[in-house]
Amino acid sequence: MTAASTLQDRLIDAARQARAQAYAPYSKFLVGAAVLDEHGAIHAGCNVENAAYPQGWCAEASALAALVLAGGRRVLAVAVCAEAPEPVTPCGGCRQKLREFAAGDCPVWVADLQGLKASYTLEALLPHGFGPQHLAG
Ligand code: THU
Repeated sequence: MTAASTLQDRLIDAARQARAQAYAPYSKFLVGAAVLDEHGAIHAGCNVENAAYPQGWCAEASALAALVLAGGRRVLAVAVCAEAPEPVTPCGGCRQKLREFAAGDCPVWVADLQGLKASYTLEALLPHGFGPQHLAG
């Protein structure tokens, strides 16, 4: 990445690098994710599978855990990187996990190893979602 890299480039690159670390011996489906926090820091994660299949977790969950550990409490942008015939959007559960920290207008950039494939907002992926605001007051 050069000094002229855009934020989108940096986030996708972080997701791509995280994908290379994925532990997915069962599905062989490697996924990386990266999230930008309110301090400008990028946190990445990969999927981690388990012999007890349901115990595995997604790349987005790993990236969110890294963000929280580092003190982040907001997600301002998301990138996901995987290789598939169609753009790999976050699963339903991860859309909800992202919703905890991200507003509806948060961009979700979906990439493969060649680069950006599709761009969404979280609201488009999780319309009318349940969130922290429902528990406030
Ligand atoms: N996976 C992710 O990590 N993120 C996604 O957005 C879609 C699916 C993982 C879960 C599992 O390890 C593998 O991809 C196949 O579903």
